[in-house]
Amino acid sequence: MTRDVVSIDDLSDAEIEAVFDIADDFLANMATPEKPYRIRGRTDCAQDFYLATLFYEPSTRTRGSFESAMFRLGGGVFSCADSKATSTAKGESIADTVRVIQNYADLIVIRHPWEGAAQVAADYSDIPVINAGDGSHEHPTQTLCDLYTLRTAQQPRHPATTRKSIKDLTVVLSGDLRHGRTVHSLAYALARFGARIIPMPAAKSYDFPDHVRHRLANDYGCIPVALDDVMGGSLPADVLYVTPEKPHQLSLMTSDIVDVSIQLSPKEEKALKSIKEVDFFYATRLQAERKEAGEADVDYPVINTEFLKQRPYKHSQVMHPLPRVNELSYEIDDDARGVYFQQAAYGVPVRMALIAALLELRPALGTRPETMQDRYPIYDRPHTLTCRNLQCVTRKESELRYLKPRFRIVGHELPRVRCLYCDHEQDPQIISHARSKKYRKGTSAWKTIKSEDLVLFGSEQEASKAGHRPVKSESAASATHA
Ligand code: NCD
Repeated sequence: MTRDVVSIDDLSDAEIEAVFDIADDFLANMATPEKPYRIRGRTDCAQDFYLATLFYEPSTRTRGSFESAMFRLGGGVFSCADSKATSTAKGESIADTVRVIQNYADLIVIRHPWEGAAQVAADYSDIPVINAGDGSHEHPTQTLCDLYTLRTAQQPRHPATTRKSIKDLTVVLSGDLRHGRTVHSLAYALARFGARIIPMPAAKSYDFPDHVRHRLANDYGCIPVALDDVMGGSLPADVLYVTPEKPHQLSLMTSDIVDVSIQLSPKEEKALKSIKEVDFFYATRLQAERKEAGEADVDYPVINTEFLKQRPYKHSQVMHPLPRVNELSYEIDDDARGVYFQQAAYGVPVRMALIAALLELRPALGTRPETMQDRYPIYDRPHTLTCRNLQCVTRKESELRYLKPRFRIVGHELPRVRCLYCDHEQDPQIISHARSKKYRKGTSAWKTIKSEDLVLFGSEQEASKAGHRPVKSESAASATHA
């Protein structure tokens, strides 16, 4: 059974640790002594294997480090860095492309502008697929490099201690949290490992989108609580996320998110107030290529040495997935706190380790772990619901011919569904019955219809198009009103 890495949730915490142990091993044996983060030379453990890199969006680090990793493992690489030079330009679907490529290679790495594209590739490929970024959705292997940096680049506050744990680190995620796929995967991983997250969007409109907040809340149990007085009130954050399990996992969230309902115990409150410093400051660029029509320009904050003089950041390590544009000053390059080039260098040992694990050249992965997502029931009745996200792979013409929208039912009180490909959520407006094709307005029937009879529509119009009608009393009532 092959394993894919489409989401960061496709790897369990233990598997991530195991991949990092392999990366440590590669570095211990292959790094140059003067640059202990840089791999040199090659081994031959993957000499019988080929990697296909399908990059339908620009890339320097991700493709470069995947290809370097495969070559340094002794394997071969088959590369496509321009979709215009492939049959995609002729309208070939993702499913067909991967079913052809699987005959030429042993592992596929795919980057694609459509959200959910990597999931489709994984569904149709019989060799492992790695998501190297699908639109604004996820970028799990960047998260592996980020977590490895968090684990490796920590400067112990007290010389006698060495910190290797991600748990309890305080990490600011800043910049374009709305469109940035790196910060989405990273936020999920940080929540899972129990780090504290302080989102610091460039502007309110660049905050995490609703589906990311919902996933943080639903899947990782992060619950927002009011926040004041953390770090002496010196952070622009006003809401805090905690997990309902004990001990609470403390994550900080900005803005006016939902339902501030959790009461912290005095001990938890004290623990939170004792946080004085940010361990890592993760900057990201404005994802200009993903800007939607009508989105206003904002003054994008610049992280420079002046900014880092503020008390919470005095000892913060500065990370960035790169490329940078204007948001991160070049003056930090000469500051010991800037670890972003090291973070990029870790792309090679971490990706070598992941490739070795997926090709079963090194033991790290077992059977696929049950993910948080697997707990939700699937809704996939054809010709009923459509994903509302126009960037979702299920909305694209070349994929519509064979792909059926699929959702997970994530709501308890409301029949909220989450697209299985892109994670965007919606609250269906009509709940109908498969056999009677009759529905009542509102969502009251939600808990009474058996799952095998459940039919969901986004609107009355869509229900009517599919031949579903309101129950008699309701159609009569609306006729009277008319
Ligand atoms: C990121 C990406 O492609 O999402 N780059 C990378 O892989 N290191 C970040 C970005 O492009 O801003």
